[in-house]
Amino acid sequence: MLLGTQRVNEEGHLEIGGCDAVALAREFGTPLYVMDEALIRANCRAYKRAFAERYPNNEVSYAGKAFLCTAMCALLEEEGMCLDVASAGELHTALRAGFPPERLFLHGNNKSRLELEMAISAGVHRIIVDNEYELEMLIALAERAGRPVDVLFRITPGIDPHTHERIRTGQVDTKFGLEVQNGQAARVIERAVAHPFLRVRGTHFHVGSQLLDLEAHRQAIEIGVDLLAQFRDDIGYIAEEMNIGGGLGIRYLSHHEPPSISEYADMVIGTLKACLQAHNLPAPKLQQEPGRSIVGEAGTTLYTVGAVKEIPGVRTYVTVDGGLSDNPRPALYDARYEVLLANKANRPAERLVTVAGKHCETDTLFPDVTVPDPAPGDLLAVQSTGAYNYAMASNYNRFPHPAVVLVHDGQAEVIVERQTLDDLVSKDVLPRRFARPR
Ligand code: LLP
Repeated sequence: MLLGTQRVNEEGHLEIGGCDAVALAREFGTPLYVMDEALIRANCRAYKRAFAERYPNNEVSYAGKAFLCTAMCALLEEEGMCLDVASAGELHTALRAGFPPERLFLHGNNKSRLELEMAISAGVHRIIVDNEYELEMLIALAERAGRPVDVLFRITPGIDPHTHERIRTGQVDTKFGLEVQNGQAARVIERAVAHPFLRVRGTHFHVGSQLLDLEAHRQAIEIGVDLLAQFRDDIGYIAEEMNIGGGLGIRYLSHHEPPSISEYADMVIGTLKACLQAHNLPAPKLQQEPGRSIVGEAGTTLYTVGAVKEIPGVRTYVTVDGGLSDNPRPALYDARYEVLLANKANRPAERLVTVAGKHCETDTLFPDVTVPDPAPGDLLAVQSTGAYNYAMASNYNRFPHPAVVLVHDGQAEVIVERQTLDDLVSKDVLPRRFARPR
């Protein structure tokens, strides 16, 4: 499986964005996250085009939680995308990058006062209210600021998408949002609609992530439109906007076949139009927040192979110079990935091995993968690491965060520098009583 601009070059090396992976590793070190700019841009454009053709009254936000840094914000701005941020840190990143606040959406199921204040003073486009506690705080802040805020309400449609349990969010048993089925959503929204310091623009839901079929989204859109009809009928409120979150899956393994962006758009718009017509509702603005399907396949992690341990008759371990700290997804979600040896990319992958990291625990990264005969010094490339890898990296064992490099037309530019060992101690504080000459 080769993704985006990946290809095997004349030297038999993996190439991404016109850059030889072996040369990238030599120049920037490993572990290294490599991001394929052309693929990120192509995905942004595919979303924008697919929805503009079918339903012009729409906005596409990128979900920053998947991967965010200031260069990513600049790229998104160039592509005319909106951006969804879910913390003070993500919001600060966007504002520091000069991203237009009128294209920002603020999320979070337990937003702090600081986060709400930052959002109000920056003038973000929409705040997606999760619960009544947040609503009270927001009203108080809006009154103090003396101007109304534009909000959407997060609802839980009560459906169960088929994906890993830790990335399901649309079901009844979830910490997120206002419940539809027990009437909570209608009650809270009814009250908010009447409030002078709130402009209730509509509803939001997000049912889950890495969805490889369209069923959950289809059901959620039906429930979401039913709810809009209920608001109109019960309280005379007509929502102007409906936000359907993100969730479209990507190819981690070659047999994964996620719907294409245009198949997804066909289903979303087909379902939406049919439901609106059935209820005789005016068409709201459609908003969405894909994350993984914009950046996931655009990321490749490069590691240097170290020790190769063969346990005859049992297993061969290939160890690499990263692990749990740069990719916690195998441990958290049993995530599987495709790997290849970037310096031996044209040789047949005949050896069954298990790739392990270098943390002080059993951090199996990629069990039972096949590679050409592995040796210390080889360069292991892991595909589809663009989403939720750098974003979820930790400093476990005091490993520095790897650098992120953006590749494009044979050029490679660092967009996040590798942390240094001194960065790791830069926030440590030594109480005076421990001080002695060192
Ligand atoms: N909107 C909201 C409100 C979300 O909570 C999410 C993801 C998205 C949009 C973007 O979803 P996407 O298009 O990326 O599926 N760390 C997990 C994924 C957690 C997703 C959380 N919310 C993982 O590594 O699989």
